[in-house]
Amino acid sequence: MATEGLTQRRQGVTEKAGDREKPMSTEEDELKKPVVSTMETELERAEAELAPRLPQYLGVFFAAGLTFMSIYILWPYAEQGAERVFTAEELALYDGVKRKQLLLAILGDVFDVTEGQRHYGPGNGYHHFVGKDASRAFVTGKFTDGLTDDVSGLSASEYSGLQEWHSFYVKSDKYRYVGKLAGRFYDEAGRGTKALEDLHSEFKKAERMKELQIAEVGKYPTCNSRWSSAEGGFVSCTSGYPRKVFITGGTTSRCACFQYSELDQPNQEAYPDCDPYATECQVSQPGT
Ligand code: HEM
Repeated sequence: MATEGLTQRRQGVTEKAGDREKPMSTEEDELKKPVVSTMETELERAEAELAPRLPQYLGVFFAAGLTFMSIYILWPYAEQGAERVFTAEELALYDGVKRKQLLLAILGDVFDVTEGQRHYGPGNGYHHFVGKDASRAFVTGKFTDGLTDDVSGLSASEYSGLQEWHSFYVKSDKYRYVGKLAGRFYDEAGRGTKALEDLHSEFKKAERMKELQIAEVGKYPTCNSRWSSAEGGFVSCTSGYPRKVFITGGTTSRCACFQYSELDQPNQEAYPDCDPYATECQVSQPGT
């Protein structure tokens, strides 16, 4: 029947009755068919294209992220390792006013002491060390007219003191070495000068002197001492006789105990107004 045939066609079931059912196209189906298949194809193609690329893109993003994070994390360390040669004018800028950072130089090595704001900040006790190399003042204590890097002619103990101050900044957890100062100890390329060589030989001499002094103290023990404003100052020896000795390589003297057989040794003298065989001598008067 015509109606039946039409229904069958509309339902798109069969053209021919039987076991094998073959889809039959209507006009609508024909219209829809290519659209659906195009969309599916496009989707499939896009998926196919994306499928292998997605991990690639992820890889690129991941690598970029990793690079960014590495730079972010390692930058401070890279900066720490960065060493530069400052001119005196550049160094002078880092005084906590012109630039917030506080830099000081000692023996031509520049350190960032910003962490020590309470010592070196503007208006604080050791601000005069900032923005310059005032090495000499570290051992002379001349903070107004002695702010210079000329360290020639110091005593052995002063050279030792200077070396200790330098080590203090080198070893500090708070402060950071940032470079060299072009001038007395380094040239513009950061190479050590003759003055640096001379300084190192002074340090060596000072070290030898220190060893001698230690040996001296071991040989001639230091006297006992007591002081009160009512009685004054006294030196005494539990064993031997008090003698004033000049410290090798130093500018000061100390009291050492000499045995009777050692009293003819050079470089020692008896205390004035004191019996040479007394075991105790007065060295300062009451109230002084
Ligand atoms: C040649 C003489 C002196 C020099 C070159 C000198 C230098 C310094 C320097 C550079 C600092 C800062 C250390 C740091 O960065 O942590 C400091 C700290 C200090 N100085 Fe002196 N100083 C001298 C004499 C004196 C004297 C005579 C006194 C005491 C009467 C003194 C008391 C102090 C004190 C209390 C501190 C702070 C310590 C701390 O808080 O960690 N200084 N000195």
